[in-house]
Amino acid sequence: MTSDIASDDPRFAAYDPDPVERQAPVAAMVAETVEADVPVLAALQARARGGSAGEWAQRIRRGLGGERSLVVTARVADELAGYANVAFLSADEPSGYYLTGVTVDPAWRRRGLGRLLTEWRMEWVWGRHEPVWCFVSAENRASLDLHRELGFERVASGPSFQGVTFACGEGWLLRADPPSQGRRRKSSMEKTLS
Ligand SMILES: CC(C)(COP(=O)(O)OP(=O)(O)OC[C@H]1O[C@@H](n2cnc3c(N)ncnc32)[C@H](O)[C@@H]1OP(=O)(O)O)[C@@H](O)C(=O)NCCC(=O)NCCS
Repeated sequence: MTSDIASDDPRFAAYDPDPVERQAPVAAMVAETVEADVPVLAALQARARGGSAGEWAQRIRRGLGGERSLVVTARVADELAGYANVAFLSADEPSGYYLTGVTVDPAWRRRGLGRLLTEWRMEWVWGRHEPVWCFVSAENRASLDLHRELGFERVASGPSFQGVTFACGEGWLLRADPPSQGRRRKSSMEKTLS
């Protein structure tokens, strides 16, 4: 899964497939987001992607506690280091469970948290015997690599999916099917422990 579109979009991490220096992966707890987390996550999102913390807080709250939606938080020790959403979207076909809005605090990036938040949500959707969907800007090469590595494949490309339009004009629709029975993928946590 490669994209030839270069990005200057400050909302996305600078693309660096092979960093010269790396920090060790960090141990994190992933759990469903609770109301008390919202102001901190909203401030994190406003710093990382722009916009006002108040607007982000409203958006995060809409995903809390729904029957077909979920917000999850990654915590390193006592610090909220990132969060991500799942929601059942049906504005366009294909309807289904979509991963949206994974964001890791820049100070904690490239230490395995994006992968952990994504694996956690994939397991949640697969537990409902559904495929996992997501859409990513063609400019967001870091995110495309993250999802490819976890087994997502491109199904389509287009200017918008589920009502979300891409600033660069193109996004990719990605899908990951549940692993076949008896061939469950090892999560990064299990790989670290084995
Ligand atoms: C995309 C994002 C969530 C990744 O979070 P992260 O915690 O840094 O990612 P991880 O450390 O778990 O990285 C997992 C893999 O993703 C890929 N990846 C992550 N960041 C990358 C980067 N800057 N350049 C290239 N590949 C990258 C790599 O394959 C990486 O594996 P590796 O470190 O073994 O090479 C983070 O950069 C972010 O918050 N970006 C801004 C918001 C955003 O674009 N969200 C996605 C919306 S679809």
